[in-house]
Amino acid sequence: MPRSLRVSHECIEKVKIAVTRNGYPHQRALAHDTGLSLATVSNFLTGKPVSYATFEELCCRLNLDWRQITTTNEEVTSISSTKNIQICKKKPEFQDWGTAVDISAFYGRSQELTQLESWILKDSCRLVALVGMGGVGKTTLATQLTKQIQDQFDYVIWRSVPIIPSFDSMITDLLSFISNHKERKPDINRLMHYLRTRRCLIILDNLDTALDVGNTEYIQLIRIIAETNHQSCLIFSSRYKPAEITVLEFPKLPVCCFRLSGSPEIAFALVQSKRLLGTDKQKYELCHLYGNNPLKIKIVANTITNFFNRHIGRFLEEDTLLVSNYIKRLLEQQLNPLSHIEQKILYWLAINPDLTNIADIEKSIVFTVSKSQLLQAMEELYSRSLIEKKRGKYILLPVLLEYVKDRFK
Ligand SMILES: Nc1ncnc2c1ncn2[C@@H]1O[C@H](COP(=O)(O)OP(=O)(O)OP(=O)(O)O)[C@@H](O)[C@H]1O
Ligand SMILES: [Mg+2]
Repeated sequence: MPRSLRVSHECIEKVKIAVTRNGYPHQRALAHDTGLSLATVSNFLTGKPVSYATFEELCCRLNLDWRQITTTNEEVTSISSTKNIQICKKKPEFQDWGTAVDISAFYGRSQELTQLESWILKDSCRLVALVGMGGVGKTTLATQLTKQIQDQFDYVIWRSVPIIPSFDSMITDLLSFISNHKERKPDINRLMHYLRTRRCLIILDNLDTALDVGNTEYIQLIRIIAETNHQSCLIFSSRYKPAEITVLEFPKLPVCCFRLSGSPEIAFALVQSKRLLGTDKQKYELCHLYGNNPLKIKIVANTITNFFNRHIGRFLEEDTLLVSNYIKRLLEQQLNPLSHIEQKILYWLAINPDLTNIADIEKSIVFTVSKSQLLQAMEELYSRSLIEKKRGKYILLPVLLEYVKDRFK
């Protein structure tokens, strides 16, 4: 292990830029935040030797790869070849995964992961919304994404919103963790201070549960995180896209929303993993009928195993889509928050699958609804992933379509 390292002459400028880019207005702020003396920080920034541990800490804070900024003297070359040290490897106490799920069997989503990674790491997105229907795989994808990018952050914290007792306790919890337990009050200004001076990744899963009960403080937090300058990132998952996100998505604000859909690749892999019997065509048909939704596929695969001796063909011969109680509950959860008029329009779309645009719907609809009500309802149904537009037509995924026809007739 070397006793000291120094920034190579040609990289001094790059390191100075990294200081401001990472939210430190001057050396003093960096010294304060790392707990190092001003002289030590100054030595580092001017290419003088500093201890190995200090070098590691500062590279970590400034998101720099130590190999690219050290002098290539013998000492450094020998460590990199013999020990292959992983600088910036997060210490476990800087990660709190809360109730994040185990994802030992993860399939597909490579395009989604590439896009999300690029938004967060290359475009420095401060707020990322992951929205989609229940069971489509938001939590699973957020977990895999976090695993892949965790090393790029000083602090990683995962919280599932439904199990947080109150907004204030959530802020206190985040703040306490990010400040190494120095802060103990729900102070958003202090939280923003830490998000500016440290690079933190916060994941709030199932945010819709707080929004559904009218918890507007979360919206306020989202807005502050999007609009304030800092070097951290908040990822949240929700079954629908909060209207406020659309406003924040304006060009220039580093805010992104990813709308997650069912995936034939994952659905097929899940069917294979359950060892169901049938041709590939039958397997794809089954996946399509359940909207390629991983959770629904898992449930129906159990039904086929238990009642159809694993034969997909026998299940498909049934004339009607069998909807288990579990799937019913999932659908209910998504339909319950809808207003009366939204439910009626959803039913209308289910029984009129050829409608292609708003004017069409307005003309054909048999109950009284104003144009603005119709537009608002369509927006709401779309933001909740209950309708999609395919080949110019508004469609409901098969299981939902059958269920809606049955429930609202
Ligand atoms: N990429 C994947 N690979 C393997 N399994 C997956 C994948 N995505 C989702 N699943 C499985 O599908 C189920 C539902 O996924 P998940 O809980 O992530 O959905 P969700 O969108 O977060 O749902 P909710 O809105 O109810 O929170 C889980 O059992 C999960 O293991
Ligand atoms: Mg989830």
